[in-house]
Amino acid sequence: MTQGSARDFWNDRYEERRRIWSGRPNVALVDVVDDMPPGRALDLGAGEGADSIWLACQGWEVTGVDVSSTALARAAEAIREVGSVDGSVEWVEADLATWEPNGDYDLISACFLQSRGDLDFDADAVLRRMAEHITPGGHLLVVGHATTPPWSEHREHGPCQRTAGDQVAALAMNSAQWQVVVSEHRSRPVTGPDGQEAAIEDSVVLFGRR
Ligand SMILES: C[S@@+](CC[C@H](N)C(=O)[O-])C[C@H]1O[C@@H](n2cnc3c(N)ncnc32)[C@H](O)[C@@H]1O
Repeated sequence: MTQGSARDFWNDRYEERRRIWSGRPNVALVDVVDDMPPGRALDLGAGEGADSIWLACQGWEVTGVDVSSTALARAAEAIREVGSVDGSVEWVEADLATWEPNGDYDLISACFLQSRGDLDFDADAVLRRMAEHITPGGHLLVVGHATTPPWSEHREHGPCQRTAGDQVAALAMNSAQWQVVVSEHRSRPVTGPDGQEAAIEDSVVLFGRR
């Protein structure tokens, strides 16, 4: 997918509504990162910014990358509303298919990077390339959809759904360099557009760099 089409797809998606995501940080991110000492973090597909902003509030120096200018404008507005944070966030508008970091990170986080607009986007290749920028002792967190709710228009799209085990296998990280710290599913309640309630499963995979 070219940058133009990815950007157009995601900007159109964001412009459907004033806000798409909850504004809350991903619960798995909060859980696994809570005990880590703050350092440099990279948030891949930062969207409306909730994860990057939460990390910055914990003292992390964050780079939040997203292809959507609309999402990043909302993220920038959201952090202005927070006011002061212990760390910092730099928002970068770029296509991860070609973007290269200019430094190393203690944490790289990708929450729901593999989703519908990305059907032609090789998120695994991006994750493997980005993981080369993780410091020894650092972590790669990948959160995805193991299941989707009954009302989701994406539920028939296999590539959007993947078990944690399949995610670990797809990344095929070199075990001499990486250990799997977490590979599991976590259930969370969701509310549909018409107020329907359901529980869905997220796949949570955390790699640690030896
Ligand atoms: C499902 S959203 C998840 C957003 C955020 N991580 C969250 O959990 O709320 C996927 C995000 O990835 C971004 N994205 C998709 N393809 C991308 C690409 N090729 N380069 C950079 N960002 C991309 C989209 O713009 C979107 O914000």
